[in-house]
Amino acid sequence: MARFRWSDIQPAEVLEESRAARFKPAWRETLLAYLGLRPGMHVLEVGCGPGTLAPYLAAGIAPGSVTGLDLDEDFVARARAKAEAESLQGVRYVVGDAYALPFADGSFDAVTSYTGIGVLQDPRRALAEMVRVCRPGGPISLAEAVAGLGGITFDGIDQLEGQETYPGAERYRTLRGRLRAGYPSAAPGVGSASWPVRALWALMADLGLKALELNAWGHVAAPDDRRTPPEERMKHRELEHVTFVQWLDELLNGKDFRVLSRDELLELRELSRLRRDWSAEHPLWDWEGSLSLAALGYKL
Ligand SMILES: C[S@@+](CC[C@H](N)C(=O)[O-])C[C@H]1O[C@@H](n2cnc3c(N)ncnc32)[C@H](O)[C@@H]1O
Repeated sequence: MARFRWSDIQPAEVLEESRAARFKPAWRETLLAYLGLRPGMHVLEVGCGPGTLAPYLAAGIAPGSVTGLDLDEDFVARARAKAEAESLQGVRYVVGDAYALPFADGSFDAVTSYTGIGVLQDPRRALAEMVRVCRPGGPISLAEAVAGLGGITFDGIDQLEGQETYPGAERYRTLRGRLRAGYPSAAPGVGSASWPVRALWALMADLGLKALELNAWGHVAAPDDRRTPPEERMKHRELEHVTFVQWLDELLNGKDFRVLSRDELLELRELSRLRRDWSAEHPLWDWEGSLSLAALGYKL
């Protein structure tokens, strides 16, 4: 059986889009403080995905460095390609398992993870590994998104019931509703933490971390807000359509007609295009928002 990859359930583009809104350059100093990070530190980020946080951290801790680790080879390849294309300094990526970190004890000044530990079956084991590879006295942080979507979904269009929107809107709602109900775990937006941050924080105390701190930050992103440039608006709309169609194509290519027939999947594909085209012409007050919590403690 093929090995599970996170990129199969949550495309890199969705992570990149949602994280760009969560890690704003203007907030860098605050977020670094929440993670206990200071310039000059050598930091490990566990579950780094396609390189959404590591470059952001590296820009704030120069002349230090960030090592991003992830199990998903596709994510790591993408993160490396981006770092190379942008000539990023102080960032490197490795493929590895959070349960068996390929580093000696005390190798890093600090260890962090953003939505990388809460998705695991056994976060305690992974956290114990994070503690092991951190030097004594170093900060260890777990940050999780406790609320919010994985990307802008433009569901507002579908809530304009009774209004004239794109052709076939009612049919789109019906078919997509059946699809989401039939494959709840495959629906866009997966990747939410399976462990509440409270539980992770308790684990930190249990593993002997000291001086625990809990901080939060939030964001809201609305593509049709006047501050959003037109090309970014279109990027959001295109991404929502493309990731949905990717899922439909996977079902079509895999001949998975358990929930919708082939004709219905093809129909939904076309309806998604009409919906994207309509939304391109009609500003909507659609938005994505989330709250992230960062738990921080120090290894004795
Ligand atoms: C919700 S994603 C978050 C990715 C990234 N931190 C971000 O916010 O963009 C969870 C990540 O954990 C990674 N992951 C899952 N199990 C892992 C494991 N055992 N070891 C290392 N990484 C793992 C996945 O491949 C995925 O990249």
